[in-house]
Amino acid sequence: MKKLHWGAVALLLLTSFSLSAQSSAVRLEVNTAKSQATVNPDMYGIFFEDINFGADGGLYAELVKNRSFEFPQALMGWNTFGNVEVRTDNAPFERNPHYVRLSSSGHAHKHTGIENEGFRGMGIKNDAEYRFSVWGRKADRKNNAKIRVELVDSNNRPFVHQEIAINSDQWNNYEVVLKSGRTDAHAFLRIFLVGDASVDLEHISLFPVDTWKGHKNGLRKDLAQALYDLHPGVFRFPGGCIVEGTDLETRYDWKKSVGPVENRPTNENRWHYTFTDHFFPDYFQSYGMGFYELFLLAEEIGAAPLPVVNCGLACQYQNDCAEAHVPVDKLDDYIQDALDLIEFANGDPSTEWGKVRAEMGHPESFNLKYLGVGNEQWGEEYPARLQPFIEAIRKKYPEIQIVGSAGPVAGGDGFNFLWKEMKRLKADLVDEHYYMAPEWFYANAERYDNYDRKGPKVFAGEYAAHAKNRANSLNSALAEASFMTGLERNADVVRLATYAPLFAHYDAWQWAPDMIWFDNLEVVKTPNYFVQQLYATHAGTDVLSVLSADKKNLTGQDGIYASAVKDRDNDDIILKIVNSKSEKQQVELLLKGVKSIADTGKWIVLTGHPDDCNTLEKPLTVSPHETTFTTGGKNTVSLAIEPYSFNVIRLHKEK
Ligand code: AHR
Repeated sequence: MKKLHWGAVALLLLTSFSLSAQSSAVRLEVNTAKSQATVNPDMYGIFFEDINFGADGGLYAELVKNRSFEFPQALMGWNTFGNVEVRTDNAPFERNPHYVRLSSSGHAHKHTGIENEGFRGMGIKNDAEYRFSVWGRKADRKNNAKIRVELVDSNNRPFVHQEIAINSDQWNNYEVVLKSGRTDAHAFLRIFLVGDASVDLEHISLFPVDTWKGHKNGLRKDLAQALYDLHPGVFRFPGGCIVEGTDLETRYDWKKSVGPVENRPTNENRWHYTFTDHFFPDYFQSYGMGFYELFLLAEEIGAAPLPVVNCGLACQYQNDCAEAHVPVDKLDDYIQDALDLIEFANGDPSTEWGKVRAEMGHPESFNLKYLGVGNEQWGEEYPARLQPFIEAIRKKYPEIQIVGSAGPVAGGDGFNFLWKEMKRLKADLVDEHYYMAPEWFYANAERYDNYDRKGPKVFAGEYAAHAKNRANSLNSALAEASFMTGLERNADVVRLATYAPLFAHYDAWQWAPDMIWFDNLEVVKTPNYFVQQLYATHAGTDVLSVLSADKKNLTGQDGIYASAVKDRDNDDIILKIVNSKSEKQQVELLLKGVKSIADTGKWIVLTGHPDDCNTLEKPLTVSPHETTFTTGGKNTVSLAIEPYSFNVIRLHKEK
């Protein structure tokens, strides 16, 4: 046999390789000419709840725990030394009656004072400023009342201090700024009595000066920035089970969370004892980041607020008896709370609750348009209570879109019962929750393809892929990204979607997985965060159909999931493609209705090993990688899709 030239062999191999690559290529046809549905601009958003130290100890930048001495053990979180007394007589704030009196120990070398441990320590940064404030008064007739305030590092070394003279026997607010010369994730605050005059101290507070947008009583800047960077359309708050409380006494009562911060009462946080293997007896809600701050945050991150009010049901997991709930004929106060909330958000400053908002600094409306009634409720008791809420809200505020619940699980009799009831009651949106295995998310990309188009719309209000190890791995994020192609494809029926929960403190979490992890100094964005961010920043305006060669939606054939939208404002076509397989896959795109596209496109890839997670040490192991690629300029595009990857491909249509 004649010997083949090596060049010919190479050509042959190359040709046969590209032929076999072509024969196994996945062909996708995107119809750019027809909008299938419009995408709600609010579609991808945030679910916020004070779980895992999400608010106190997290987003809320206050560094002092139990600042008003109102935990059931008044000195929880505090160390005392010398002559310290907890008192309640002539307190300055009626809803927070406890304060401390520091008196001399009677010996010049023996000190009196208190120390606050913060939330698993206080995160203090070098060169940053911290605003210490306290309400104080002289407690005897002596004129030299003074305290010394120190920040102390985790090796018990004070590194910055200031003195404050308490010069009146009336309660006054005193403030000093401490400039730190050290970084420490576990610093603490120490307050000494200086001299022999006694002082009373209340509402002892320490905030970084550099909060989100510089607000006093503000939010941790890095965490709020992470929310802003998500580009959220909607912001649901304050939970979650927090809305219900363990019992009605501990439900989130929004009216207690507004007005002067010093007079907002402390509430038990139900997550402190929900899981005995994650027990946090020092977890309470200060209400310092209350409804005003939450509405303001929604506005500042560009998201539509979606508050949820209690519907008269305490947490049904913990209360399986009628006595724990409000009888249907005694709901008036609860319904009034809902109506007042709408007035608080939108009402003119001349109205009772509009005035409260205006006095807090926001005379303009917060433009509330969504309201959730009840969290994750179930059974006949829920629609029985929801009905009078809907009637009252429709009567006074017909423009408000009301969100009802489909219960805690993704299907079954209870779920079907509630959906029927939501249709009967004409809820605008129904909140569905699914915390399921990654396999469920992969298998449910078609979930909404055949949903009823005539009834209420869907709010995918809490979801996350829960692998056995509960890790925020790339695999869980790819499962969610695959599922979300189905949300996007069905954007006419799924109008809102929020991953849950949002935050978790590494040293104080109850529930995993979560979208954003943090410690006292750092933030870690999970692969799941990046999936949410990519959907939200490339949400588009109109859904386009994207079909396989056999005219089917791409819901896992060959491990490929795909959806497409266009951005009508700038003539972009945006594809989301997941390759859930371990091999690279060739995708051939045909753009129907397009003559030519720009020569270059944008391609963002999130990929890695399925078990990869982001950590404090390596926060960007899984993070989006953006490239500009050459498209060929025609209406066909070839894409080699990485194994285990989520891809956002942005093409610009030429006129
Ligand atoms: O997201 C954590 C919890 O899950 C929410 O508080 C509750 O609504 C659901 O059970």
